Formats: sequence, C-alpha cells, structure tokens
Amino acid sequence: MKSENIYIVWAHPRTDSLTARVVEEIQGEAAAQGMRSTTLDLYRRGFNPVLETADEPDWKNPDKHYSEQVQQLFGELQDKDTLVVVFPVWWYSFPAMIKGWIDRVLNYGLAYGGGRKIPVSRIRWVALVGGSGDKFAANGWEENLSHYLNTMVRYIGVEDSAVTFLYNTIGVEEGIDNRQQHYDALFSQARGMVKGLR
Ligand SMILES: Cc1cc2nc3c(=O)[nH]c(=O)nc-3n(C[C@H](O)[C@H](O)[C@H](O)COP(=O)(O)O)c2cc1C
Repeated sequence: MKSENIYIVWAHPRTDSLTARVVEEIQGEAAAQGMRSTTLDLYRRGFNPVLETADEPDWKNPDKHYSEQVQQLFGELQDKDTLVVVFPVWWYSFPAMIKGWIDRVLNYGLAYGGGRKIPVSRIRWVALVGGSGDKFAANGWEENLSHYLNTMVRYIGVEDSAVTFLYNTIGVEEGIDNRQQHYDALFSQARGMVKGLR
C-alpha cells in the first residue's frame, strides 16, 4: 500500500506557540504511522498573503503564469494526498495568512478551472479556539465554521473535508484545573485526527 503523504500548512507568528506545538504533534504522529509529512510555515517562509495583479486569475486563460512564489508553493502540493491546515481561530475564522494562501495558491488554472484539479483528495482543518467549546457551539460557530470550510473546498473538488476544534487553548475557562493535562488532551485529539487518516 502506498504510504500517505501529508502537507501541513500552518500560520502563527511564534514558533513557541501552542499552534506550532500542535503541528509538531501532527508531524510526530504522521511519522509514527509511517506517513510522510511536509510543513509549510507561512510566517517563516516570508509568505505575503496579499494577492497582487500577478496572481489575479485571468478567467479567460487557465494557463496564466502566476508569480514565482505561487508556482513554487502550488508545486509543493503535487505529490501530496492530504492537506492539513492548522491555525488559531482569530475572529471566528482563520488568520489572514491562511486566507492569502488559499486566495493565491489555490488559484484558477492550478487548483481548479481549465480541467485542472488540486492533487490532494482530503483536507483536514485543525482550529485552535481560545474559548470553550460550549460557548463556541452555542453561538453557532462550530457549525458555521465547519460548514464554511467543508463546503468551500467542494469548489476545488474536495469532498472529504473535516474540522477538528481544539478548545480552551487560552485555558482560563472554568473546569480546567490542570492546564498541562488539558493541553495533553488537545495534543492527543490532534494525533487522533492523524490516526483517522489511515
Ligand atoms: C486577533 C485574535 C482574534 C481571536 N479571536 C478569537 C475568537 O474569535 N474566538 C476565540 O475563541 N478565540 C479567539 N482568539 C484566541 C485564539 O484562538 C487563541 O489565542 C489561540 O487559539 C491560542 O493558540 P496559540 O497559543 O497558538 O496562539 C483570538 C486571538 C487573536 C490574537
């Protein structure tokens, strides 16, 4: 059986963040499962999320040659089966870095359009949420964000998409007596997502 090849895109200004730690856990579990993984650390790569003219789609020309950075980053997806996107939830959504990667890299004529298709067949989103799951779900955000993310990727032909929410990352909500234990539970949830890819 062909081994799974995972591409992990993540965004956080700090490499000592919980988000970065979750990425390490995902990589560790992928290795433990005999899967290959590659990461794209958007901040350290110096990625610019702003879409300029060079990367604006030309709807009449799916063969448009986009900027070097976009060609390079789309190329990195070529041999991958699963895309994992890890991010802290900022204002009930993903950080601008992730939005910019989607806008620029999953471009017309590359990821979709003109008979083209993104090489990955599965997408897993891992969203770190500062507040509690109860409040997030009660306000409809778990459903809204899941619906948005899972439906959006149908546009690029990916039906197999799921979101893992890691709650209480700030750790100040009631009911968390042992913060380390809580973080360990979040890491194990992230690892469980990887196990589910087998
Ligand atoms: C700009 C900004 C917006 C945020 N918006 C939300 C939010 O909408 N809901 C929430 O629960 N937490 C929110 N948070 C908290 C982050 O989700 C939290 O800091 C993050 O999950 C912790 O992971 P980290 O240590 O890797 O940053 C926000 C944080 C920032 C910096």
